Parts: sequence; structure tokens; C-alpha cells
Amino acid sequence: MKNWFIIVIVFFGYINAQNPLIIPPAMTGNNFDLTLQVSEMEFYPGVFTETMGVSFPILGPTLIMEKGEEVNITFDNQLPDTTTIHWHGMHVPAEFDGGPHTPIPPNTLWNPHFTIKDHASTMWYHPHLMHKTNEHVQMGIAGFVIVKDDEEALLDLPREYGVDDIPLVFQTKTLNENYQIVTNMDSSGLDTALFTNGTINAYLEAPAQVVRFRLLNGASERSFNVGLDNHETFYVIGTDGGLLEAPVEIDELLISPGERYEILVDLTNRVGEMIHIMNYGSSIPNGVYGAETVGGMGGSSIPYYADNHLNGADFPLLSLHVGEQTASPIYTIPSTLVSVDEWDPNEIDETRVIQFSPTVMGPNGALNGPFQFNGEPFDINVVNYEIPLNNVEIWELRNQSQISHPFHIHDVQFNILEINGEAPPAHMQGWKDVVLVPPQNGTAKFITKFEDFSNTEVPYMYHCHILTHEETGMMGQFTVVGEPAVGIEAPKLLSEQFTLHSAYPNPFNPTITLPFSVKSPHKVSIQIFDISGQLVESLFNDEIEAGNHTIKWNASHYASGVYILTLQSGNQVETQKLVLLK
Ligand code: C2O
Ligand code: CU
Ligand code: CU
Repeated sequence: MKNWFIIVIVFFGYINAQNPLIIPPAMTGNNFDLTLQVSEMEFYPGVFTETMGVSFPILGPTLIMEKGEEVNITFDNQLPDTTTIHWHGMHVPAEFDGGPHTPIPPNTLWNPHFTIKDHASTMWYHPHLMHKTNEHVQMGIAGFVIVKDDEEALLDLPREYGVDDIPLVFQTKTLNENYQIVTNMDSSGLDTALFTNGTINAYLEAPAQVVRFRLLNGASERSFNVGLDNHETFYVIGTDGGLLEAPVEIDELLISPGERYEILVDLTNRVGEMIHIMNYGSSIPNGVYGAETVGGMGGSSIPYYADNHLNGADFPLLSLHVGEQTASPIYTIPSTLVSVDEWDPNEIDETRVIQFSPTVMGPNGALNGPFQFNGEPFDINVVNYEIPLNNVEIWELRNQSQISHPFHIHDVQFNILEINGEAPPAHMQGWKDVVLVPPQNGTAKFITKFEDFSNTEVPYMYHCHILTHEETGMMGQFTVVGEPAVGIEAPKLLSEQFTLHSAYPNPFNPTITLPFSVKSPHKVSIQIFDISGQLVESLFNDEIEAGNHTIKWNASHYASGVYILTLQSGNQVETQKLVLLK
């Protein structure tokens, strides 16, 4: 009954009301100050829905970053919950990647800072705390990162943000009879309310010229099959991690959770028309969440799946009202874009095979999981792989379950080598960080290189980007090990004035004891730095007697992560790595 009620409202809305598409505000520069907050939105007239957002009632600003620049971001967590913020797709040090190991407790700040190493691309940020990822994303926390670089700047592409360069995030949510967002996982099959940039029934005034859309599937489970009215064609110019070598003309584009594609749509001479960006759900293949059916012989067993009117349906994701041109329109589709310098399969150091379980079993084929990798549920205390820095690896994914899983890996961009034994279609021959692995013995293979960052303490994650699968165990983690090590370099020892012993316990939470002994009375200074060498706290700076000493550091006000202790006396300096794990 409840279910039916929601369907009627959504359908009614689609016929009648249209809301201007929310364009997340853009932020540029090197410093980004953001607040995670609880808020509300009036999705339906007169009804307020509780949401979460980033300095905004829903979603967050689009952070525009330049390759090669250093950025400094501060998140002030004003949510009642601990959360994390992950830089999906971006190549950043593990301690700033924002996975489950770097929680931001309520009323604390998190200050990741790194140099942008990515190609010009469309990335995104979203929460990633164990057991809270789906909830926080569903409530509205997510935002775009647009990376710019010199190569992209030379191309004749639309790039006026919000005018002819439009970010679009597609999401579905489950709303209860009071129009509140439901985030418990058993209701997952009820994701009947469609949001484009946090807008229900969205329309956009688009200029009559070539328009660039940066598409992100930010839904927890659902794949979208994007097209235009009457299957008119459009051009894919970019994948998850960068531009393609050349535009690929296409009329349907399947986008699974976590994936991004940049497309060009030619609206030249279409003034006055209304054109829809559609979801062609009717042609999503069986086994992909969003298709009419998921599962084989016995049919679907995802709760409520068959009742969800979005499954297998064709419906608009956005209406375009085509208006006048801008002052400097783009009219042409470039013939070439950038060079994609793929990793070389002749340089492989390692091949890893990951089996997606459960295996196909009987008529009802275990569509509700538990979904796992290699038969093991995720364990935050187990590092599944230690990967030597600079390894070139092939990962082979074998999906024996009945549903397609969008596999995502942190730290790196990869090139897809094969899907079900064949080369990927042209529009996937670029930089990717998500690959949708087909169901029922489907396979995918990619190649990547683990370069630049190593950290023995903080792992990176890989997981299914269907958030309900991720949170029920379809996740693993790896560290990248080897030089260059993290932290600051230990200066050379000139003469021994003191001995620094091992701090304990390490990892710790929230207090750690730092033992040291001093040979003769000396001035000693003890400081804590963060991983990038910024001073966090000065613990001691005074004369001290000869003998054994201990000092304690209480880190209850700091976020989890790696800290560097330095003890200095005269010209002797020693350092030690401290791991705060909350
Ligand atoms: Cu977008 Cu680990 O995720
Ligand atoms: Cu990610
Ligand atoms: Cu999955």
C-alpha cells in the first residue's frame, strides 16, 4: 500500500510539475572550506524532507581544481554522526583518500591536502564510513570535483560551468509516506524517487549549441542507460578518469553506480524544442540493477524489485528547454581529444584474481547475498593485498553471482583489457576506476600501476559500488608499500643525547605513551606533526633531567590517521610514526 502511494506521487509529479535543475555552486582556488550539515529540502510543495549536504542543503559545491596545484580542503563535520569524505577517482595519498580508516567525528575538522595529479576529468567526493556510506550518500552528501589541465584547455570544448558545461548526478532514493528519506537496507528495492542534482522532475534551459554534460551515477544501486529522445546520437568524450582519444558517437550509454562519463550533445538549431535526457531502462540487460529482471532461472528475489516501476522502464532524467545561444558557443564536435597512454600489458608484475561470491546456486540464485570477494567478508583489520610501489598489475574479476557488480578501486585509474573475454567498447577505452562486471560467470580484466604513494598504515579500498553490497561485505583493502615512505625525513644523527623508545600502544586511541631517556640534563622538545609535516601539537619544550621519562599524548581531538612524533635535543632529532585509529 505504501509502495503504491509513492508511485502515484512520483508519476503525478512527472506529468505536471517541473523544477529548475539545481546546479551545485562552483568553488575554485586552492583552499576549500566546507561544512557537513543536516538540512532540509522542499522536494514536494509544502513538505520538508530532512537531508544532509555539504555547505548546502543537498549535495555539495563543485570543486574546480587544476592539475599540478596543491589544494587544501577543510571539512567541518557538523553532522550528528561520524563520517568520512573520499575523493572518488582521484590519485591521492592513502591518508587523505578518505576511506573508512580516516573518520571525522562530529564537531571536528578534517584537513586533507594534496597535489592534483589527475588528468582533466570529472571526479566526485562522498562519505565512506563503514555501515554509514549508504545512509550518508542517500541523505545527500556528495559533490563533483572537476579537474582541469593544460591539454584539455587547448581543446575546443564547452567549459562554461552551469551554462554549456553541466554536471548531472543521477540518484534514486526511497521515500516513506511522510516523504522522508529511508536509508535502511531492506528497503533498497523501493528506490522509486528519481533525483537529478537533488532535483525532482528537473528541467534545464540549455543553449542551442554543443553542450557538455558531466554524468555521474551517484545512486546506491541503480544503473542508468542514458539516451536522448528518439535515440538521437550524442558523443562520449570522457570516462571516469580523463578524456578519450576521440569522441565516440553512441545512442545509449549504460552508467553504473560510481561511474562518470562526459558527453557532448549538439543542440544547434534546436531553439524552442524540448528534448529529454532519457533513461532507457527497457534495454538494460538482465542482471543489471535497473533492468526489468535481475537473476536467472527463478527470477528476481531482491525485495520489492518487481514492484518498482522504474525497473525496466524508459523515463526522463532531465528535460532540456532549448533557448538562445551564448556569446561564444561551440558548434562542432572535435575529431580528436587527447592521447591516452595506457599501461603496457608486457610490463606486468602481478596478476590478481577476485571471485565474486556467492556463486550461482539454484533457481533463486542468492540475489540477496551475502556478496563477498573470494568467499570472505570485508574485515577492516585485514589487509588483503600488500602491493609493492610501482607494481603494474592485472586484476581479473570473475562474477559468479546473478547480479552485475560495479567494481571500483581507490588510488588508481585503470584501463579495461577485457569484458567477457572481449575488448571493451570504444567509449570505455580510456581511464576508468569502475567497471561493471557482467553476471553469471561474467568476467572483466583491467591493468593498472600503483605509483607515487606508499603507506604501510592506511590502506586503500576496492569494492562493489552498489553501496548495499559494499556495506554487507563486498569490499577489500590493500596497502602500497615501499619507498618513498610517508612522513618527513629523519635528519642525520650527529651526537647521541637521548634515546627514543617505541611509543605504545601503536596504533592507539586516544592516548599514547612516549618513552625516552636522556643522558645528561638537556633541553628537549617534543612535537607532533601530521603526515605532511604541519605542526599539530607541541608537547614539551624545556630542560629535563637525565634518566628515563615518559610523556603522554591525548589525541582525542584529532582525526584518525598517521602522525609523526619528533623528539629533538641539541642537534639530534628522532622521529616516530604514530597511528591514531578511532
Ligand atoms: Cu566511490 Cu570507495 O568509493
Ligand atoms: Cu573511490
Ligand atoms: Cu555488488
